[in-house]
Amino acid sequence: MSLSTIILAAGKSTRMLSLKSKLLFKISGDPIIDHVYRTAKSISSNEIICVLGDSPKELLDFVKKNKLKTVSQKNPCGTADAVKIAIKSKTVKNNNKILILCGDVPFISSKSLKVIIKKTNNNDLCLGTTLLENPSGYGRIVRQNNNIIKIVEEKDANNKIKKINEVNTGILCIKEGVLRKYIQKIKNNNKQKEYYLTDLVSLLSESKKKITSYKISNELETMGINSKKDLVKLERKLLIDKATKLLGKGVLIRDVSRTDIKGNLKVQKDVEIDINCIFEDNVSIGENTTIGHNCYLNRCKIGKNVNIKPNTIIFGATVGDNCIVGPYARIRPGTILKNHSNIGNFVEVKNSTIGNRTRVNHLSYIGDSILGNDINIGAGTITCNFDGKNKYQTIIESNSFIGSGTRLVAPVKIAKGSYIAAGSTVTKDTPGGGSLTIARSKQVTIAKWKNNSKSGKK
Ligand code: UD1
Ligand code: CA
Repeated sequence: MSLSTIILAAGKSTRMLSLKSKLLFKISGDPIIDHVYRTAKSISSNEIICVLGDSPKELLDFVKKNKLKTVSQKNPCGTADAVKIAIKSKTVKNNNKILILCGDVPFISSKSLKVIIKKTNNNDLCLGTTLLENPSGYGRIVRQNNNIIKIVEEKDANNKIKKINEVNTGILCIKEGVLRKYIQKIKNNNKQKEYYLTDLVSLLSESKKKITSYKISNELETMGINSKKDLVKLERKLLIDKATKLLGKGVLIRDVSRTDIKGNLKVQKDVEIDINCIFEDNVSIGENTTIGHNCYLNRCKIGKNVNIKPNTIIFGATVGDNCIVGPYARIRPGTILKNHSNIGNFVEVKNSTIGNRTRVNHLSYIGDSILGNDINIGAGTITCNFDGKNKYQTIIESNSFIGSGTRLVAPVKIAKGSYIAAGSTVTKDTPGGGSLTIARSKQVTIAKWKNNSKSGKK
């Protein structure tokens, strides 16, 4: 039996109180819709159809980028209407199962989806349900002798129904023939004057169709996002879960509620992470490395025995073994710090290689540069890599010493074993080999510049 997946994403996002579609809000680093789409792709469906409304450009861009098949629900008037439009456009026909996902339920797992799909083989409909301590906001599952007979939406529920803890996750799988027949019968006589897909349940139950359910036990998988409050609650829960899992695996995370692992964090033994650190995209950390408080790491690889001191930003870079970085360092894309190198406070490094045992310890900017081994860069050294139009490279060969407050005007090459006097503005290549280059104006003293008489005038 083939499978088509429909993602419902045309809602008006009214409860989000925002001008943009709620599906574009980021959760755990990616837009909400991204998570749903990735999961939809991970199960083998024959086609994925996304129902969009009057969508903003960013949502259309997302759809285009992923070559998603879309249909348009110009006037969103309920989930049943959205599904009706989607099945009209189906290209895969007949003998089909249809899986329906909500664009605003981002963390449903492919494992749960596979169970729901499988259970539909011997039934007409399988609903994903869950038990919630506080079920408010969700459609309630009404059972009679344990059989599901209907779903009642929060807004249409009386006090007795509101007490039911089993809720509809919005995720279901249904046989195509059954869906096509019964969706036509859905009416909008409810509080919201919407066509509810959930009304299928009572229609099927009355016609003695086979309805089953799968209770999803992980609350994270089933939480829907209707408001910013929901978004924040779900993200917090997810991030605490992720950090707690790592703590369980032996990573010393000082406070799981203040560690945000938004992407994929891989860690070796004896890693310690202090509070308020954020990890995005793919980050790997080697053995015995410590990350101080308030660090932001995105798309980077950190070696072993590294000390990342507080308030450091590392984005798109590789840090070798035994390095010290920070506090307050900013390591930007394309940077490679080789083993035992030190990058100190208020130092920015961009698209540069820093050699073994080389130190850039204070208040510097190193951009588009290649630094060899055993170099000392004095405080306040700047590579002037940009002339207003183009970027140029600075090369500093091994065993050189750059005095404090030096400006290296690229393109320029400091040959092996060069000494540069403090305060120099270097515009020409240096010969190296133990030579000293001084490129600053000579110090002069003008006597009696200020007349120290009582009037204070010169
Ligand atoms: C829906 C379910 C509810 C369930 C909850 C789970 C219905 C009627 N109710 O309620 O039983 O507990 O999800 O999270 O299905 N959408 C469209 N077109 C529309 C309306 C909605 O595409 O005309 C999309 C939305 O973008 C959203 C999804 O369908 O992704 C669900 O719609 P929403 O309005 O959020 O429904 P809920 O009130 O959360
Ligand atoms: Ca919802």
